[in-house]
Formats: sequence, structure tokens, C-alpha cells
Amino acid sequence: MLESRAADARPLSISVFDPQRATAEEWAQALAYWRLRHTEDHPGEPRPDDAHTAQNMRQYTPLHVVHHILARDAHGNLVGGLYMGVRREGTPDYEAHAPFVNVSGGVRQSSRRQGIASLLLCELLALMDAEGKTTATFNVHLPEGHAFLAATGAAEKHRSMENRMAFADLDDDALARWRAEALAPSHGLRLEIHAGRVPFERLATLMAPLSALLEDAPTTGLARPPMRFELEDFRAWYAEIDRRGGEHFLVLLLDGDGVAAVCDASWNQLYPDRMFQRLTAVARHWRGKGLAKGVKAVMLQLVRERHLGVVMAVTQNAEVNAPMLAINRQLGFAPHRHDAAYQIGTESLRTFLSTRSPASREARA
Ligand SMILES: CC(C)(COP(=O)(O)OP(=O)(O)OC[C@H]1O[C@@H](n2cnc3c(N)ncnc32)[C@H](O)[C@@H]1OP(=O)(O)O)[C@@H](O)C(=O)NCCC(=O)NCCS
Repeated sequence: MLESRAADARPLSISVFDPQRATAEEWAQALAYWRLRHTEDHPGEPRPDDAHTAQNMRQYTPLHVVHHILARDAHGNLVGGLYMGVRREGTPDYEAHAPFVNVSGGVRQSSRRQGIASLLLCELLALMDAEGKTTATFNVHLPEGHAFLAATGAAEKHRSMENRMAFADLDDDALARWRAEALAPSHGLRLEIHAGRVPFERLATLMAPLSALLEDAPTTGLARPPMRFELEDFRAWYAEIDRRGGEHFLVLLLDGDGVAAVCDASWNQLYPDRMFQRLTAVARHWRGKGLAKGVKAVMLQLVRERHLGVVMAVTQNAEVNAPMLAINRQLGFAPHRHDAAYQIGTESLRTFLSTRSPASREARA
């Protein structure tokens, strides 16, 4: 069920979309809107089917609470949406996460530059004020998104890029060499590989060492809570993979019981031609010895063997991560899109919104 409230005197209304309570008609409208928005923002990219989207939205998220807000025009058509994710109270590290809210959203192309996103941000400010949040983080990849965030007064804190690689262009000799160098007996490292799922008992022992490696990944000036791998996240993700089909791959180089290097990746049955690279990391005292190249080579060979239909690898890299970018360039990865994370606090948001009141907009029109 949608809970509506009037949006000033304008012919727009803002409502909460609650996946647990929405009627069949509300679901149909929302799904049609998200299909359209996917096509607008990700032209040419495969689109998840509605059943999958609906199931994911209904699924309980153990670590986060998600708020979906929708904007409608005077005819009741959906024209904009806002997603806000906050840490669930009572979860580990709640205090460190408490000041933050992750935000995404958009406005349909035909309805832009009419103040709809600004209106949606009033909902963000209301949530931040009500819950004592101090920092909202937005990830943006389109020029309009950058322009809008810059206009709000949000600060760009971190840049990253999506890089893609064609498996057909891989140099097999180089992969074999990289693998052999990392596994050279003089290093004394042991290879551990999981394909499909990693047993939970093993994952549980890896959360701390993998989190330490993740925490060391560069995030430039982003204010953030600690970056951790969490077993609860894996439970939710594996449940999703169980439903839609997919695999998780993990390659480790072990120094005794310690993790010297890791590479993990996934394959999603909905996008069967792609491999999604996740974390690649090497413990500080093991760097400069070719281990990152080694685990990446093992991973690429593994995924190619198990999924003959995979033609492309997709990865996200920080622009400041020169070593990772250099390795990926050697593998044939090339930039596909440039992303940025912006952050804004309540006072800047309030200042921006005060300049966007209906009166000031009419005055400027
Ligand atoms: C970013 C987006 C949400 C803006 O929606 P919108 O409803 O058009 O935004 P508003 O009308 O409230 O814009 C407010 C101000 O932002 C700035 N702005 C917004 N879009 C802009 C653009 N394309 N170019 C330059 N400035 C822009 C302007 O200063 C604008 O005020 P003005 O129209 O009075 O000049 C929309 O373009 C969109 O959906 N983009 C794709 C998704 C995305 O990037 N989302 C970003 C957050 S995750």
C-alpha cells in the first residue's frame, strides 16, 4: 500500500513504496517505471527480469534497512524515485555506520529539470534529521548525475571506473607465467580454490583476514564506516544466487593459515556472458612479488573453464589504485565508464533545498 503525502502545492506527490505491502497494481507500475529507468540509464545493458527485481526487493536485508520513495506527476505517472539505505540497528558496528545513509535514484528523462530530484531530496533531509544521520553518499556515473550533485553542493570524494575485458584477447602464455611465478616453491604459498560456493564454516574463518585486506583498498577522501566482509551478507547473497542461479569463486594464496593474496569473483546466470570481478588484494608484506597477477590468472582460467559462454570480465577500480589499474591494463581491461562518489551533510542539503522552494523556482522561471 502506498502512503501518500502532498508535495507542496505542486501537482506532484511523494509516496513510500513498501515492497511488503504494495498492491499488485502498485507493483506493476513500479516495475514498469524501473524497466524504463534501466533502459534510460543503462542503454544496451541486459536488464534483470521483473520477477527477479521483485524478489530481491522483497528479500529481507539483515544488515540494512532500505527506504524507497516514489514521485508521481498530476496524472499519477511515476516520474522519479529515491533509494536510501541505512545500517540496521543492533547489527555489528552499528555506531560506526549510524551517521551514514547511502542514496541513489533518478528522474525519468522526460521529466528532468523540473525540480523533481530536489523534491525527493527533501525526503532525504527528513530521514537524516529524524534519524540523526550526518552524511549522505551518492554514487554517480552519468553527466546529469554529476551536474546535479555539484549543484546540490555535495563534494566529490572518490572516483572509480568500471573496466571491462574480452576473454578472447587474453594472452594464455602470460596467464600461465603469472600463475607459475606466484606459485613458485620459493614463496612457500599454498593455493586454495572454491568454485560455486564457499562453505560457510570456511567463510566464517575468512571474514577477519579478508576484511583487513578490503579495508586497505583505497577510497580517497570518502568518509565511511569500516569496510568489512560480513557473514550475514554472504547468507543473503547466497540465498539470492540459489534462487536465480550463479556462482561465487574464491582463489586464495595462503601463508600457513594467513591470507597472502585473494581474488574473488562471481558469475550470474542472468548475465551468463560475464564474469564479475570482486576483490583482489595482497597483504602488505607480500606485495611486489607478482601475487596479484597470480591470483587473477588462476581466477580467469578457472571461470573460463567452468563457463565457456563467458566472453567478458567486468571490474570496478579506484582511479587512485595505480597498481591494480596497471595489472588490469596488462590483462586487456579498458575503461567502460567513470563513476564518482559524492557526499553531503545535512546543513549543505538544507541550504540547497532552501534555494529550491517553489517560490524561488517560480521567481527564477
Ligand atoms: C540527476 C537527476 C536525478 C536530476 O533530476 P532532476 O529532477 O532533473 O533535477 P532537478 O530538476 O531537481 O535539478 C536541480 C538542479 O540541479 C542542476 N542540474 C540537474 N540536472 C542537470 C543537468 N543535466 N545539467 C546541469 N545541471 C543540472 C541544476 O542546477 C538544477 O536546477 P535548475 O534546473 O533550476 O537549473 C536526473 O538527471 C537523473 O535521473 N539522472 C540519472 C540518474 C542519476 O545520475 N542519479 C544521481 C543520483 S544516484
